[in-house]
Amino acid sequence: MSIRYEYLESIDSTNNEIKRRASDYLKPWTVISAGTQTAGRGRTGHSWESPKGDSISTSLFLRPLLPPEAISRLTIIAGMAVASAIEKLYPLKAEIKWPNDVLVNKKKICGILSELFFTGDGEKNVVVGIGVNVHQQDFPEEIKHMATSIDLELKEKGRGSRKELTEGLWEEFERLYKAFEKTGDLSMLKPKYNDRLVSRGERVRVMDPVNPYEGICIGIDDTGALIVECDGGDIRKADAGEVSVRGIYGYV
Ligand code: BTN
Repeated sequence: MSIRYEYLESIDSTNNEIKRRASDYLKPWTVISAGTQTAGRGRTGHSWESPKGDSISTSLFLRPLLPPEAISRLTIIAGMAVASAIEKLYPLKAEIKWPNDVLVNKKKICGILSELFFTGDGEKNVVVGIGVNVHQQDFPEEIKHMATSIDLELKEKGRGSRKELTEGLWEEFERLYKAFEKTGDLSMLKPKYNDRLVSRGERVRVMDPVNPYEGICIGIDDTGALIVECDGGDIRKADAGEVSVRGIYGYV
């Protein structure tokens, strides 16, 4: 497989565009990127800002032979791909806030939204959507304290490139995905992922919708679930498809 790239100046959401075109002979491993999104979507119903020409909004179409519960592993792969691409291209250190945020200097630089959807032909499809802040110099008041961009972090050391980073992150995704296909688990990236995991060894709150709980963040297992050691020594596993995690002192 090789990745084919399409670029649109403006679209409601690159994830939506993939979904609309999935039944229309869209080839797996097609990436659709946009200069801006008018209705970008984040996780848990939030919106996602993609100011014109300043950020990466990019989505990959896949038809993976995976059980639905394993789809969240693609988000783990995508997080790792973005963090690795940032570090390869720029003098920056990237961390991952499990399961779907990439951070630089403890601030969010990237969000990932993977979605499973079915087409009329009964096919199981996935869109992996990635948003990266590249040239933004400022953010809305309510997210200022926790958001950053490549250019803000590079300071006088240079400027990011949307094209270079988009291609770099999908190439890295493809490389990791090929390794993942052989085993179906994330053992091949687990050690490096855990090295990048923010809050590892620290106390976190697992935002389980039914039963939130706290414990020490240990790392991910081979399925991408987050291992948390609760008070009293109980080990619990949080599934990436269902919950998110907060540091108990704020965003990280
Ligand atoms: C999050 O942090 O909540 C996830 C944000 C995901 C944003 C990307 S931008 C490209 C793709 N299209 C969308 O509408 N959302 C994702």
